[in-house]
Amino acid sequence: MSKLKIGIIIGSTRPGRNAEAVAHWVHELAKKRDDAEFELVDLKDFALPMLDEPLPASLGQYANPHTKAWAAKIGSLDAFVFVTPEYNHGVPGALKNAIDYLFGEWNNKAAGFVSFGSAGGARAVEQMRLIMAEMQVATVRAQVMLSLFTDFENFRTFKPGAFQEPYITTMLDQVIAWGGALKTLRSK
Ligand SMILES: Cc1cc2nc3c(=O)[nH]c(=O)nc-3n(C[C@H](O)[C@H](O)[C@H](O)COP(=O)(O)O)c2cc1C
Repeated sequence: MSKLKIGIIIGSTRPGRNAEAVAHWVHELAKKRDDAEFELVDLKDFALPMLDEPLPASLGQYANPHTKAWAAKIGSLDAFVFVTPEYNHGVPGALKNAIDYLFGEWNNKAAGFVSFGSAGGARAVEQMRLIMAEMQVATVRAQVMLSLFTDFENFRTFKPGAFQEPYITTMLDQVIAWGGALKTLRSK
């Protein structure tokens, strides 16, 4: 079986966002592995407006070029690592909007999470797990939670504790295992 393609999704879009540095850190660690291929997927590059598709995503009949481009990217991937901050105890609106645009492109795939915030972004990821269940995405247990107080300087400069790296490894191990299992389901 060919290597899994795993997208590391940058879950915030605001100027000066911390998610970008976190996602690059995850990508650099992931690239050291040879059991999957990893790419950064930046929501900003897709410039999705607030959902403007006339038909439900479950029909897969997309009208807009931005939706088609987003669908092609997510459809090309076997699994995901969501890098997400916590906004008001939940998922950033830009990330939820991007998820809502699609349906079949998410189905029967696996996902892991790298989150950050004052409480490690834990509350955003709890919401993400519910949303992913509706998308038929299997979310792995291992989770990387970064603290705004100890993994960043002045809440801005990303300096992750070295102890965080093994958590990335475990999370990726699980995403690759479940991503591979679900790929066999999709090929049936
Ligand atoms: C709209 C907004 C709401 C936020 N709400 C929370 C929150 O509920 N809990 C938390 O831990 N941090 C919260 N924060 C702080 C973010 O975790 C922190 O600013 C983080 O850097 C945001 O990610 P970003 O820089 O990638 O946008 C919030 C930030 C913003 C912009």
